Amino acid sequence: MIRIAIIGCGNMGLTYAKAFLKDNIVSQKDILLIEKNAEIKDRLKPFGNVANQIDERIHGFDTIILAIKPQDSKAIYADLKKHIKPSQLLISIMAGITIETLKENLGHVSIIRAMPNTPAQLGMGITGFTASKETNIKDVLKADNLLNSTGKTVFFDDESKLDAVTALSGSGPAYFYFIASAMIEAGKQMGIDEHISSLLVKQTMNGAFHLMNTSENNLDDLIKSVASKGGTTEAALSVFKDEKLKEALVNGIVAAEKRAKELSKS
Ligand SMILES: NC(=O)c1ccc[n+]([C@@H]2O[C@H](COP(=O)([O-])OP(=O)(O)OC[C@H]3O[C@@H](n4cnc5c(N)ncnc54)[C@H](OP(=O)(O)O)[C@@H]3O)[C@@H](O)[C@H]2O)c1
Repeated sequence: MIRIAIIGCGNMGLTYAKAFLKDNIVSQKDILLIEKNAEIKDRLKPFGNVANQIDERIHGFDTIILAIKPQDSKAIYADLKKHIKPSQLLISIMAGITIETLKENLGHVSIIRAMPNTPAQLGMGITGFTASKETNIKDVLKADNLLNSTGKTVFFDDESKLDAVTALSGSGPAYFYFIASAMIEAGKQMGIDEHISSLLVKQTMNGAFHLMNTSENNLDDLIKSVASKGGTTEAALSVFKDEKLKEALVNGIVAAEKRAKELSKS
């Protein structure tokens, strides 16, 4: 039987509690939700037992998920170090906090570090994760099972790849919304009402995603299938090329990876 304590039950922490219950991985009585924000504590009650601090109550839980913001991590180390037991599996989703940092501050070695993204809320997320060398295979599989209740998972042997995962899929939804917002803006500039422009863009993205995901053609072929010579799409693509849009997107994502690395060191 799995019993899970979640420390920090904002967007992501609560997403996990809901996903575990939906997948029948645990029942409500086997979840402990540790949340300091009094305003959201009442909302948590349907999803587990609620506590406002880390104390001896975590002893009865085999898995502890750390889902507070990285900047709040230092404030919990002393309490968690005092109460965590060597047999407990710690799963941290905090961006930029390395396994080494957690080991040093907690004196604990069985650690999974994971980077999910917000579509996890719909069970459509993707999580890159890695494990400390001391984590046994049963715990790695347990973590995989827990994390994939929010979508797909990819295991990385090399922890440093999590910075790229952070930049690509962790932050990725924001890039996607950014592009959608530019397309909606273009629709408005061409005289289409915002809500219609939004419908056109969202359904185009939805359909294009499914074509991309099921087609046997690669992305260049899919682009060619829309862009006929001298046509409208080609006119747009030619401006994107002149404006070096692809390079800008790649540079932006690489900058996000650089920032993730900096945060890991701070
Ligand atoms: N959102 C994303 O796209 C995303 C993606 C991948 C990974 N992550 C990672 O997921 C983690 C959580 O992100 P989030 O967006 O879910 O943040 P969030 O909504 O702010 O949730 C964190 C919660 O933890 C609470 N908290 C802070 N210190 C606490 C403590 N000592 N004990 C108990 N609860 C405490 C916060 O309360 P207060 O509000 O009172 O501070 C807040 O309610 C972050 O480390 C982030 O790097 C997020």
